[in-house]
Amino acid sequence: MSNQYGVIVLAAGKGTRMKLDIAKPLAPLAGRKMIDYIIKAVCEFNQSSSCLLSCGVVTGHQSSLVREHLERSFNEMEFSFAHQKELNGTADAVKTFFDSIADAAKAEYTFIVCADTPLITKDVFQKLHDLLEQGKFDAVCASFQCDDPTGYGRVIENKQGKGLKIVEQKDASAQEQMITEVNSGVYLVRTSYLLSRLENINNQNAAGEFYLTDIFDFHQNVACYCFSDASLFLGVNTLEQLQQAENKIRLRKAKELLEKGVRVIDPRHTYIDDCASVEQGAIVWPQSYILGQSKIAKNVEIEMGVVIKDSTIESSSRVLAYSYLEEAFVGENCSIGPHARLRPQTVLHNEVKVGNFVEIKASTLARGSKASHLSYIGDAQIGCETNIGCGFITCNYDGVKKHKTIIGEHCFIGSDTQTIAPLEIGDRCFVASGSTINKSMPADSFAISRSRQETKEGMARRFLKGRD
Ligand code: UD1
Ligand code: CA
Repeated sequence: MSNQYGVIVLAAGKGTRMKLDIAKPLAPLAGRKMIDYIIKAVCEFNQSSSCLLSCGVVTGHQSSLVREHLERSFNEMEFSFAHQKELNGTADAVKTFFDSIADAAKAEYTFIVCADTPLITKDVFQKLHDLLEQGKFDAVCASFQCDDPTGYGRVIENKQGKGLKIVEQKDASAQEQMITEVNSGVYLVRTSYLLSRLENINNQNAAGEFYLTDIFDFHQNVACYCFSDASLFLGVNTLEQLQQAENKIRLRKAKELLEKGVRVIDPRHTYIDDCASVEQGAIVWPQSYILGQSKIAKNVEIEMGVVIKDSTIESSSRVLAYSYLEEAFVGENCSIGPHARLRPQTVLHNEVKVGNFVEIKASTLARGSKASHLSYIGDAQIGCETNIGCGFITCNYDGVKKHKTIIGEHCFIGSDTQTIAPLEIGDRCFVASGSTINKSMPADSFAISRSRQETKEGMARRFLKGRD
């Protein structure tokens, strides 16, 4: 068998039954888009086999969005795109591809796969490859047994001889509808056979569409591989199926992590996106979300109710319950929360402590600095080993512009202090509690700015009316 393989991903559909504004291939699914999972499986098959796949995609609805998305997300992959103007069926989609991409016919074999079966793996391609090679077939399809075959094409084997045919739900007789072996929509075909069959497919059927499944017929040299794991082929046509696919992807991810040595305490209630990475020794408590391009290093502990989006957490740090992190960087051995909020462009160096009800935005806290309670730190730079007391606020906004606050190293900022930016406090400064600081301070200075206390002995009685 030569190495001349092509892949065509059918992705022109709108996904009307999904009721989303976005075209079905771009439906969000565990941190990626639905079509990404197919492309990922193609890439993995490419890496593990000697087949050289070029990847074709048939687009239709929101063509340019689908194209841009794939080119941006898989820059190592070469794509050829064909645009199907009217959705006249899966055979028409494949024909459109060959009509638009002259080189496509040069591939001796072509895999065809639908963009809406996101759970397939490279093993599906491998099994079809082996079946076609061993049986010298012209076309093979992946089928599976399912309890509820509604909506799928039924696979009808030729009991008298070779070949099989696929009957779509709409065209199936009551008896055919009882068949539980169904077509997954993944095929491997000899390209010359496919092209000759495509010429003869008509749309004389209940849907009035050109069905790709008509390349299968009795008396043709075709076969199918019936997979025992039906969950690989869940076809996503509705939001309910999208949610089922998402559950499967998340459980698959949790299983992968458990095998790698990550303690996922309760996989059913932990939401880790497919594209997020978590290293060995980490502990992830239930009801936590690790989303997008997040990277969680070794031995990090993520407690319950934590949301982490597109953030990096270096080794041995802890994120305590109900903290919310977005595009933040957390160094090693830090402690965050409970109930902390790290907004975009927060950078915490090693051994930083951020305690409860502290909000940080676009700020850098150097090694060993601490803001343990109830603070807002925005557009600030804080030096190493500086201690920020309870209730500290950077007043960074004057109603029009945001301004910077710089605080040096080894400082002590007393509780209930506000700094009015722009402002710079040098190294080793001491700010007394309750101060409002609006002038910069040189290194080694002390500042206090609060009204002087007066104590009048015996006078309290006047104010404690009605009490003896
Ligand atoms: C298809 C199969 C069915 C199989 C099922 C598996 C046909 C005729 N039927 O049915 O046997 O059991 O998948 O999930 O192929 N598409 C285009 N252009 C078109 C029509 C569809 O690109 O003109 C794309 C869609 O975007 C989708 C894929 O082809 O990714 C399948 O189309 P869909 O309408 O979902 O087919 P099913 O009815 O699910
Ligand atoms: Ca479908």
